[in-house]
Amino acid sequence: MPSLDGKKILVGISGGIAAYKIPSLIRLLIKEGAEVQVIQTPYSKNFITPLTLSTVSQKPVYSDFFEQNTGDWHSHIGLARNCDLMVIAPTTANTLSKMAYGQADNLLLAVYLATPAPVIVVPAMDVDMYNHPATQNNIKILSDRQNHIVLEAEEGELASGLTGKGRMPEPETILQEIILFFQKKNSLNGKTFIVTAGPTYEKIDPVRFIGNFSSGKMGFAIAEELAFRGAEVHLVSGHVSIPYPIQSNITVHKIMSTVEMLDVVRKHFPESDGAIFAAAVADFRPVSTIGSKIKRENKASLEIKLEKNPDIAAEMGKIKKDKQITVGFALEMNNELLNASKKLISKNLNFIVLNSLKDKGAGFGTDTNKITIIDKNNKKTVFELKHKRKVAEDIVNYLVDLLK
Ligand code: PMT
Repeated sequence: MPSLDGKKILVGISGGIAAYKIPSLIRLLIKEGAEVQVIQTPYSKNFITPLTLSTVSQKPVYSDFFEQNTGDWHSHIGLARNCDLMVIAPTTANTLSKMAYGQADNLLLAVYLATPAPVIVVPAMDVDMYNHPATQNNIKILSDRQNHIVLEAEEGELASGLTGKGRMPEPETILQEIILFFQKKNSLNGKTFIVTAGPTYEKIDPVRFIGNFSSGKMGFAIAEELAFRGAEVHLVSGHVSIPYPIQSNITVHKIMSTVEMLDVVRKHFPESDGAIFAAAVADFRPVSTIGSKIKRENKASLEIKLEKNPDIAAEMGKIKKDKQITVGFALEMNNELLNASKKLISKNLNFIVLNSLKDKGAGFGTDTNKITIIDKNNKKTVFELKHKRKVAEDIVNYLVDLLK
């Protein structure tokens, strides 16, 4: 079966010289079984005609919101919702910037803003424009955005006669990226994973609790990445103030305390293929919760006796079957590698993700994280600081490799 059988791909073309290569890309996509709908910016017609594009794609090409002659309306919403993937190639500096900031002054940009589908962005421009901090900043904004892949421009001769980075990858390379994208997307079909996220709260009295600063961002990003690859996900989340994921294959279980988190994990663990423990779990809880609000009057100090909470990751480590994979996190400040390795062993994890509070931009609350993955053979893989969504991709890639 062709590798893109039945996939609906929107190809968006903006006005750069590399647009002349897009008919080849369309041919390749169709040869792989894809159904291609082309949208081009008005300016791109200077580089490639709608007639050429409609001939190769075997469909009308859209460029305006409505047909001047007939008044026919091209619903950007209809186009946006009826595709499995949008590929914008070439993406000029101008279109890149408008995508980054949400402008919609042509049909292609309106469809981009309206599509729930993943987007592959293929920047192509002259070397100085590509290297300009504004363009690089826009590339970063789009790379960090959920469900976006930005392909790196290639080095070589440019239309201006200059040599440098800015060339659009060849259609064959873009095709390979698209095929890879769909392979990845389905790589966890039929699998079920549990993800713990956020903090656990341990009640002191009806209005106070022991908690921590976990925002849930890391755990949610992992749940979303697993779901994107086709897995069913049980996301067991403590109290957070970020939006819950909306993918239909993510079931959100909202809990408050460690024991409540353990109960949900225990219930779903036996039928799961594994669990990723990204939550910042309270290690201790008050021995008893006071029934009414503690008053400050007549008290010089207050002592609260704490007892140890169960260790969810370690509990699952004891009962896990050979095929189940468990992944832990270690949030450390000192002797990071050693402490993380100890947790890997004591919790019987397949690998552990170390994040250190010493690294700027890593750990609690931030949009970014910097991790080192340590496996059972003590192999360490260090990753650079990146958006938690991209960190989640790295972690899930590691997991998928283990499942092979
Ligand atoms: O939520 P964010 O703001 O995005 O922040 C993300 C994060 C910093 C919380 C996350 O990246 C992280 O490091 N989570 C684990 C934090 C932690 O509690 O680490 P730990 O070293 O105390 O625990 C080790 C592992 O055992 C963790 O996988 C933890 O979930 C698990 N654990 C710990 C204690 C316990 N009682 N039960 C557990 O399951």
